[in-house]
Amino acid sequence: MPCFAVPLPMFQDLSKRCFVYTRHLFFYTNGMEIIRASVLGFCFGVRRAVELAEKALAENPGKKVYSLGPLIHNENALRALEAKGLHILEETEISALKEGSVVIIRAHGVAPSVTDALEKRSCQIIDATCPRVKASQKMVERYSSENDYVVLTGDRNHGEVIGIAGYAGENFSQLQDFEEAEKFDIPRSEEKNIILLSQTTYSPKEFEKIEGLFRQKFHNLAVMNTICPATNERQQALLELCSKVDGVLVVGGKNSANTKRLYQTAVANCKQAAHIQSAADIPQEFFNLKTIGITAGASTPDEIIEEVEQRLEAGF
Ligand code: F3S
Repeated sequence: MPCFAVPLPMFQDLSKRCFVYTRHLFFYTNGMEIIRASVLGFCFGVRRAVELAEKALAENPGKKVYSLGPLIHNENALRALEAKGLHILEETEISALKEGSVVIIRAHGVAPSVTDALEKRSCQIIDATCPRVKASQKMVERYSSENDYVVLTGDRNHGEVIGIAGYAGENFSQLQDFEEAEKFDIPRSEEKNIILLSQTTYSPKEFEKIEGLFRQKFHNLAVMNTICPATNERQQALLELCSKVDGVLVVGGKNSANTKRLYQTAVANCKQAAHIQSAADIPQEFFNLKTIGITAGASTPDEIIEEVEQRLEAGF
């Protein structure tokens, strides 16, 4: 059955199987409305990393192109890149790399020691570190010396935090949460400027609590807002969506932290919610709903979101 996309303001219901396309990606199909969250899917940094990888693969036909760790937290997208020739490399494998290999540094970034090791192997480095992460690395490198003391909040096992910490001088501490912040102190803190910053995906609420505590403890505190708005924008758009729909599909990798947080929000604010990795996972009961919302994590490619929409529209 044919389908027509009609730009605003000329939209009209042309047939029961057609959909009407608006600026907010609002669809009307055969008895089912599908509404996308106003912000969803790839964030700027992940999109840039994937585009750089695609470019590197296209420019190096027949040559092995490596990504230092999984380029993106989405199995389907990773498989698609692997099919084009991308290989995932662990840091421990760098010393065994063939000289001149092409290596992509993912959006989380890496410590300078890792870049040095790649340079020693004369690798062609494609730096896909997100500019926001890069800014944190530079800040830590600049301030964690002399009269400044830098405190970074974040998950100490996360690649981004490990990478940023690698840029730090002696005057640096890393804190996981409020509990650790309560126990934290700096000898002769009155002599130093304390710079507080966080992992880009850190919880804004936890950061606010730590900031409040630090304002009481240290009089010479400077707070750098390094939390990336991408996560919050997707959360806010989802909250708006939840009030308009009967059920929400959260599309994204099972190992993607921001997708899992979107799912938790959907469960708490919508009658029905499901976390799916692809169109094949859509629960059967969603095909009986009248209005369905779609959101997606920051590492979910556009094609997967499209496929979910198309499957819903097809009705099976
Ligand atoms: Fe960058 Fe923010 Fe995405 S820091 S990688 S744009 S979540």
